Amino acid sequence: LVVADGPLKVRFAAGDVGAWRIEQLSPVRGESLAPAPHLSIEEGRPVEAGNSVWALSGVISNLRYTTAIEVAALRAAQAPLGRPAATCAALIPIRKSESWWALPQDERRRIYEEQSYHTTIGLKYLPAIARRLHHGRDLGEPFDFLTWFEFAPEHAQLFEDLVGVLRESPEWTFVEREVDLRLSRRH
Ligand code: HEM
Repeated sequence: LVVADGPLKVRFAAGDVGAWRIEQLSPVRGESLAPAPHLSIEEGRPVEAGNSVWALSGVISNLRYTTAIEVAALRAAQAPLGRPAATCAALIPIRKSESWWALPQDERRRIYEEQSYHTTIGLKYLPAIARRLHHGRDLGEPFDFLTWFEFAPEHAQLFEDLVGVLRESPEWTFVEREVDLRLSRRH
């Protein structure tokens, strides 16, 4: 994977082909996604008319809720995508409710960080978990966010703990659709 900072469009397509094998697909809240054996990730290319079971798109966008101090802490700790040892991944598409989007920016930040500690909690899991956030809402996509994570098999339980903690947070009361896909690839 190429790591870029710009508004790069990324398409996750599930079907018969793709570098990642879908090991598990579980609906967490709301409607699930259809099962498929593989997932391919296409970056920056025009959307191809393939025979995928489903495809979801998002863009890598600007930060919304991250302060300068948090940016510095994230930069210092984060690992890149595509590490050879990171043969496990998770794709967690999420849609938040209209009541979330109706809130002003400062109230959303308050729920996200001052009440839920999302970045503070997340930072503790770096660099074991590499991550990338894709925004789909303004593209008219079914999910507001496509969250992507990569880690080594020995950190699978660590990732489970992280997801468990975040799902208990006040921020997650605004999540109305969430699907959890776990994937693997060869070294
Ligand atoms: C690996 C540790 C993690 C770190 C360091 C982390 C960090 C962050 C940061 C800094 C943002 C805010 C970006 C901005 O300012 O706009 C963010 C947003 C987000 N993260 Fe995480 N995160 C982590 C894990 C997770 C996990 C496991 C999930 C899903 C289960 C998740 C779901 C999201 C979502 C949905 C957003 C968008 C929130 C919104 O804009 O309303 N994150 N994360």
